[in-house]
Amino acid sequence: MCGIVGYIGDKNAYEIVINGLRRLEYRGYDSSGIALYNSELNVCKTKGKVEKLVKKAKKNISLEANIGIGHTRWATHGEPNNVNAHPLISNNGSLVIVHNGIIENYATIKNELIDKGYNFKSETDTEVLVNLIEYVQETENVKLGKAVQLALSQVFGAYAIAVFDKKKPDEIVVARLGSPLAIGIGEGEMFIGSDVTPFLDFTRKVIYLDEGQVGVLRNHKETKFYEISNDSIISPNIETLELELSEIEKGGFDHFMLKEIHEQPKAIIDTLRGRLKLNKGIIKLSGIDNNLNKFTSANKITIIGCGTSWHAGLVGEYIFEKISRIPVEVEYASEFRYRDPIINPNDIVIAISQSGETADTLAAMKLAKEKGAFVFGICNVVGSSITRESNSGTYTHAGPEIGVASTKAFTTQITVLYLMALKIGKAKGIISNNVFNKYLTELNLIPEKIEKSLSFNNKIEEIADQIKDSTNCLYLGRGFNFPVALEGALKLKEISYIHAEGYPAAEMKHGPIALIDENMPTVVIATAKGHYEKVVSNIREIQSRKGKIIAIITKGDKDVKEIADYYIEIPETIESLTPLLTTIPLQLLSYHIAVKLGKNVDQPRNLAKSVTVE
Ligand code: F6R
Repeated sequence: MCGIVGYIGDKNAYEIVINGLRRLEYRGYDSSGIALYNSELNVCKTKGKVEKLVKKAKKNISLEANIGIGHTRWATHGEPNNVNAHPLISNNGSLVIVHNGIIENYATIKNELIDKGYNFKSETDTEVLVNLIEYVQETENVKLGKAVQLALSQVFGAYAIAVFDKKKPDEIVVARLGSPLAIGIGEGEMFIGSDVTPFLDFTRKVIYLDEGQVGVLRNHKETKFYEISNDSIISPNIETLELELSEIEKGGFDHFMLKEIHEQPKAIIDTLRGRLKLNKGIIKLSGIDNNLNKFTSANKITIIGCGTSWHAGLVGEYIFEKISRIPVEVEYASEFRYRDPIINPNDIVIAISQSGETADTLAAMKLAKEKGAFVFGICNVVGSSITRESNSGTYTHAGPEIGVASTKAFTTQITVLYLMALKIGKAKGIISNNVFNKYLTELNLIPEKIEKSLSFNNKIEEIADQIKDSTNCLYLGRGFNFPVALEGALKLKEISYIHAEGYPAAEMKHGPIALIDENMPTVVIATAKGHYEKVVSNIREIQSRKGKIIAIITKGDKDVKEIADYYIEIPETIESLTPLLTTIPLQLLSYHIAVKLGKNVDQPRNLAKSVTVE
């Protein structure tokens, strides 16, 4: 939530910061702002997106500068407007800050500062922080880096900040706790971003600032890093970026979401690469190989995640139970963290997250570790907080997911869960070599079967046209495809704003059936081996109440094809692998409905890609 960008060096800071904000807009887009210094401090802010900021900045401020910071916001404290937008300036007009996160004790600090004569224009916690830094700088008579360090030791909450002082515009001070911050190192220049995309065109050298660290970034001068808590100097790792610019561009698609849906065959090939070794009949997964005993002797696995990642966890529950015979519980990270979960010595907690920065998932992992669990992360973003918090883990290798609605993250997370369950199931002797090899063969064919499912795009677009004006929609699935029904409903809700509910098909008669009439379409996943006859009965029950049916069926199906109003055929595979295929038409259906309704598919209202607040 919220993206921050910064630059100090010899280039034009405005261009770098604005382009960086465009790339980080997925993190929040209700307001944006920029601060540049060139003999005077120029700040421009606006409610709305970065392109609106560009127009306003061109008209109102000088764009020549070698130092600048910028922000794209997902509002937490204070409504999105020009005043609450970042950057925020301190009372003496000298310090300017951008912040991603939440200062939890801001109200107390604000009152103390008001007592000392400070006044506040915005409703934000960030304005409190910048004034606290100013107060510490003035009363302690210390440099900015030290003032930031001392001020931060008084605050609770989460932050990634970049702040500079117009009286000393040759340095930007950055710090982080709980929110991500990447620093790009160029020749005599430094870049700052909530992720690495703002500086991908300029440098391959990156430092991921660690929790509780502060950095003083200078152009052509030595950069220094400290621990906030004890002042000790640190030398962070400089890593080499492997991400390519083409991976974060739309590549000819109208939206990132559509590109990412179509990338799934490749993404899954990347997930399987070097891991599924069909010729040798083995799975290599270093995170599991190195901890195989822990997994084979685990009494219980608890999977935690949020949103789509939680849905992937639900599929994981079915997979682990079937293939590795380990009891699994799946928990919303936000609930798990505030319960008093029972974790025994042989328990494993698997945290699933695309971004690797989800605040609730991170907090739940920390709790699980405190309680003695072995915590395994399944994550997409390399170097993210969740990967660092895990005892061990596996990357999904989905590549950057920029559309706010998660698509390829989901299918690659599930792919990793299959690999894990198969490896463990085989090591425990639960599944025979034959069954194992059959799975490997089928998993290996999934990318081309997804390709086939994608080829129904035009048909799905036509179906979207027929149901786009509905105000409610029901999604039903059973077994492995119950979580897919939940995920299908979530996709529709978040990008088209049509109310949708996912249910286990058999639960329909315990309540939701009351909603069915000719105005409410039902999407039913009716795969050939997934309790088929029972699902067919559910379809008939809906039809007798005049409900419209959109069915996802297996190629070769006869019955449902005849009774459904619309159907999409997916290729045949092992039933437990069908979520990887049934998900695809549901993603496309939501996409086309949202486009037809004129919604902003990549940046739906009120949402942000990376939920770094509770
Ligand atoms: C839905 C969606 C969200 C995320 C959730 C968790 O399309 O994107 O529900 O799945 O916010 O995010 P991660 O996976 O980054 O932890």
